[in-house]
Amino acid sequence: MLLTQIDHVAIAVHDLEAAIDYHARAFGAEVCHREVVEQDGVEEAMVRVGESYLQLTTGTRTDSPISQFLVKRGEGIHHVGYRVDDCAEALAAIVAAGGRAIDEAPRPGSRGTTVAFVHPRGSFGTLIELVEEPR
Ligand code: CO
Repeated sequence: MLLTQIDHVAIAVHDLEAAIDYHARAFGAEVCHREVVEQDGVEEAMVRVGESYLQLTTGTRTDSPISQFLVKRGEGIHHVGYRVDDCAEALAAIVAAGGRAIDEAPRPGSRGTTVAFVHPRGSFGTLIELVEEPR
């Protein structure tokens, strides 16, 4: 079994501050990490839940995938991060099983992680992010 944890569930939101405030009021949730990933055009706020995270995410420019998702689909679950020990190994395995790689090779993600996205088409309608935590 190559998956070790659910790394994170990513929720696309229009207003990151409002989403952070809502989770704070509802659950006492505190943001443990915040980052703008210029390459992907996203800003994210991570809330730790056990050994996993809730990732509240929004677009930083109109042409980013998250912004386009928000326009097309509205707010909601955007992708699920599957934690793996070896991103390259997991990517090769999912492609061998018929999955469609969005990233041809693992690349840097937020928090110093190594990630690769796999297209929802071919993965039962779910955008999957393979996440290898920093060592
Ligand atoms: Co993610």
